[in-house]
Amino acid sequence: MGQPTPARNFPTDGNWWRSAVIYQVYVRSFADGDGDGTGDLAGVRARLPHLAGLGVDALWFSPWYPSPMKDGGYDVADYRAVDRAFGTLAEAEKLIAEASELGIRTIVDIVPNHVSDQHPWFRAALAAGPGSPERELFHFRPGRGARGELPPNDWPSQFAGSTAPVWTRLPDGDWYLHLFTPEQPDLNWAHPAVRQEHEDILRFWFERGVAGVRIDSAALLAKDPDLPDLATHSGPHPFVDRDELHDIYRSWRAVADAYDGVFVGEVWLPDAERFARYLRPGELHTAFNFAFLSCPWDAGRLRAAIDTTLAEHAPVGAPATWVLCNHDVTRTVTRYGREDTAFDFATKAFGTPTDLELGTRRARAAALLSLALPGSVYLYQGEELGLPEAEIPVERIQDPMHFRSQGADPGRDGCRVPLPWTAGEPYAGFGSREEPWLPQPAGWASYAADRQQRDPSSMLALYRAAVAARPVFGDGPLTWLPAPDGVLAFSRADGARCVVNLAPTPVDLPAHSEPLLTSGPLDDAGRLPQDTAAWLRA
Ligand code: GLC
Repeated sequence: MGQPTPARNFPTDGNWWRSAVIYQVYVRSFADGDGDGTGDLAGVRARLPHLAGLGVDALWFSPWYPSPMKDGGYDVADYRAVDRAFGTLAEAEKLIAEASELGIRTIVDIVPNHVSDQHPWFRAALAAGPGSPERELFHFRPGRGARGELPPNDWPSQFAGSTAPVWTRLPDGDWYLHLFTPEQPDLNWAHPAVRQEHEDILRFWFERGVAGVRIDSAALLAKDPDLPDLATHSGPHPFVDRDELHDIYRSWRAVADAYDGVFVGEVWLPDAERFARYLRPGELHTAFNFAFLSCPWDAGRLRAAIDTTLAEHAPVGAPATWVLCNHDVTRTVTRYGREDTAFDFATKAFGTPTDLELGTRRARAAALLSLALPGSVYLYQGEELGLPEAEIPVERIQDPMHFRSQGADPGRDGCRVPLPWTAGEPYAGFGSREEPWLPQPAGWASYAADRQQRDPSSMLALYRAAVAARPVFGDGPLTWLPAPDGVLAFSRADGARCVVNLAPTPVDLPAHSEPLLTSGPLDDAGRLPQDTAAWLRA
C-alpha cells in the first residue's frame, strides 16, 4: 500500500480530539431522506447545517454497514459497505467530504467482538462443519453432557438483565459462543486472520477520510482459550478486560497513527486503574466515561466522579471524555427527573414515575457542567433538543435486550425514537411518508428543532450558546473553588468559572464575575437557584 492520502482538508491540528465536542448520530433515527420510514445518509447530509450550527467538531456514526438489524446495526454483515436502507458507500464518502467542508470530522463505529450471523465468514463456518478451519475464526465447541446437550460453559449474557444463553447449538452438534444475541457470533481474536482483517478494515475507513474509530465492546474481544466456567474459575476474567487486548490495540494504534486517526473505546470497567491501562501511550487515545454517565445528580457523587476521572487519566496523559447519554441508556432529562437519578441497566423498568420539568432543569445544568470540564464531550442526537426517553408500546419494541430479558427490561428503543425536526409536518418532520420504524410519542413535535431554533430559552439555544462559548475555558486544568454544600464550583486556567447549584438554597455568584451563560434564570436577588448552572468570566 502506498503513502496514505487522507481526504480531509482540515488545518492540521493533531490535538483536536483532546477537547472536541463529538455528536453521536444513530442514522436509523436521525432523518429520513427517502421517506421510507428509516433514517439514512441522505437525511444526515440534508441536516448537516443543523450540526454545523450546533458547532460540533466531529460526528460519530453508529454502525451504518449492511446488517440484518438484529441489534440495531451492531450485527455487521460487511464492514466495508453501507446498508442499502441507509445509502451507498459513495454516499458515505460524500457525507464525509461535505462534513469536512463544514469543519466537522467523521468517526465510524467498528464492532470487533462479533459479526452478524450473515457475515460471509460465519456462513462459511456453518457450511464447513465441525472441526473445519473456517470454524476456528469463531468459538465453536462440542457441548457437555452425555450427548453434548449442555452448553460448553456457564458464561452470562452481556445484555444486562438477560438470562438468555450465550451458546447456541447447531444441528451438526457444535455449539457457538455469542456474548450478545445468537445472530452475533463472537470472533476468535487469538486467530491471526481476525487481527489482520480488522487492521485492514481500519485502513479501509481511514483511507476514506474518517478521523476516528469508536471501538464497540472494546474490553470483550479476548477470551481465555480454555473458555473455563466463570463460577469455578480463578485468575483473570475469562472474557472481560484480558491482558491480550493491549497487544491488539497497540497494533491498531500503529495503523491509526499512519493516518492521524484517533480511537474512542467503549470500555465499561468498574476499576479505574484497569480502565486507564487502555489509554496508555501507544494504545487508545480516549475511552467513554461511563462512571460520569452513570453518576446520580448529587454534588458529592459528581465531584467524586470528576476527581476520579481526572486522577485516572493524568498518569497516562490521556484526556477525559464526558458523556451523559448514548443509544444504549436512558435519556438524560428522564433519568434526572426520577427518584433514582443514576443510570443502571439493572434498574430500568416500565412506568417509572418521572418529573420531566425537573429532569430538564437538571439536564440543562448538566450540559453546562460537562461542557466546562477538561477533555472531550459526547452529545447523543436529540440531547440538544432535550428529548425525553419514550415509552415504546410493547408490541412495537425491537431491541433484543427487551426480548432477551423475557420482557422484563424495556430495552433501549426509548432513546432511539426518530428525531422531530419540523413541528408542522407529518412525523414531526422526520421525513417519512409512512410511520417511522419506531413510533414517536404524542407531543413529540413540541420538541422539534425548528421550534427550538426560534426560542432563546430552548435546550437547542442553550447547547448552541454553550458549544460556542466553551473555548473560554481554554485547555487548562480544573481547580475546585470553595463552595457551600451541594454546590460545585471550579475554575479553569484561563479564569473562566463554572458553578452548579444542586442544593435547595440559592447561592450568590462569586463577586467580580460576569455571568456568560446560565442554564436557567437567576432569582430576583441575582442568585443561582437549585439545579441551575452558570458560566462566569472573572
Ligand atoms: C455496544 C453497543 C450496543 C450493542 C452492543 C453489542 O454496547 O453500544 O448498542 O448492543 O455493543 O454490539
